[in-house]
Amino acid sequence: MAQQRLNVQAPIHPLIAKRWSPRAFDPDRPVSIELLTSCLEAARWSASSYNAQPWRFVVADRFHDPKSWQIVFDHLVPVNQHWNRRVPVFVVATTYPFLEDGRPNGHAEHDLGQANANFCLQATALGLVTHQMAGFKKDELRLALGVPEEYTVKTVIALGWPGTLDQLDEDLKKRELLPRERKPLENLIHIGSWGHPFQPPKSLGWEARYQETKHECLPWFSPQLDSDFAEALASLGLHSGTALDIGCGSGTQAVALARKGFDVTATEVSPTALKAARELAEQNKVSIRFVEDDILNTRLQGPYDLIIDRGILHNFPEPEDRTTYLTALKKLSKPGGYFFLKCFSHKETRQEGPPCRLTPEELKSLFQPDFEILEIKETTFQSPVHDHPPQALLLLAKRK
Ligand SMILES: Cc1cc2nc3c(=O)[nH]c(=O)nc-3n(C[C@H](O)[C@H](O)[C@H](O)COP(=O)(O)O)c2cc1C
Repeated sequence: MAQQRLNVQAPIHPLIAKRWSPRAFDPDRPVSIELLTSCLEAARWSASSYNAQPWRFVVADRFHDPKSWQIVFDHLVPVNQHWNRRVPVFVVATTYPFLEDGRPNGHAEHDLGQANANFCLQATALGLVTHQMAGFKKDELRLALGVPEEYTVKTVIALGWPGTLDQLDEDLKKRELLPRERKPLENLIHIGSWGHPFQPPKSLGWEARYQETKHECLPWFSPQLDSDFAEALASLGLHSGTALDIGCGSGTQAVALARKGFDVTATEVSPTALKAARELAEQNKVSIRFVEDDILNTRLQGPYDLIIDRGILHNFPEPEDRTTYLTALKKLSKPGGYFFLKCFSHKETRQEGPPCRLTPEELKSLFQPDFEILEIKETTFQSPVHDHPPQALLLLAKRK
């Protein structure tokens, strides 16, 4: 099953990104005792309060012990039975809520959760998949499996090899393909004291994107100078001067401008992208000033004869960010200097992509006060990953 790309706000370890809870398991492939034992061993090495190790597991393997497996299956709620019919292994996770000296262990459930997480990550590292479940009849299952009364039965973990989408009915298929979502860090984390939302550096999301994807497979990658920009340069007769590429990514636009004869500065928030851009400039034997910089908090001084933005503005839905962006552009543009912008257009309806889809009117109201608008044109983004290139707007403007 194709792994979905997560919309991470910062780079995370690939193992954590890879773990998920699918519903499609290979019905015919057993989990070997060696791999199962590794998962259980990973759970054993979890941290626990007082090192009490309160977790206890009951394993029910369909290939080796179909009777126990059937007992677990029979106690799942119908919605879970629906996709668990041929899961190879169930691991019933229980916890002991007392410490050795008989005092209650207030962290028994917390620590079982940690052990389950270790189990699932070890399984992921081995290429297996897991799906934890709370949807089953807990007391009845405890009795049916002979688990002593003092133990709390908390979850059942389905374990097996990844299956394929065609095993699932239409409803499950749809659920399997839903985007995996999480609440934003800002809603989950308080900094210092409650009520002060943590503000993660926005650049980390971009850094994650460049770390996890081959740059030539990123949707905005364009090996040559964007054809709209190339045409604009030709029609305006621009060949030289200082140029600034904001959000240069892996450097193709900056290198193309330098090869044309511009004295180029290129900025990027992602160090991984910048490293690739530097390498590309070296390969092309062009000298470019690369700077790790965010247009919303720029350290650049300028001014430049030409500024290009091929994918920054459409990431700013907030009016404050747009104002900051425009203030920076004004400062960085020479009077009479040119500004080329490409952004997603309001005519683009696909869900994925940047958060903003702009109209010509929006562009006018943003830029007209400080720039003379030379042209706003409907166009497309040439993209290595889209059969139908995204609808875009090209803005050519001149600083007043
Ligand atoms: C304690 C626990 C109970 C869960 N119970 C169920 C369940 O009964 N049925 C189900 O389909 N998924 C269940 N899930 C899976 C969650 O829905 C899933 O982890 C969540 O949607 C996040 O998706 P991900 O694991 O793919 O990141 C459970 C997960 C946990 C941790």
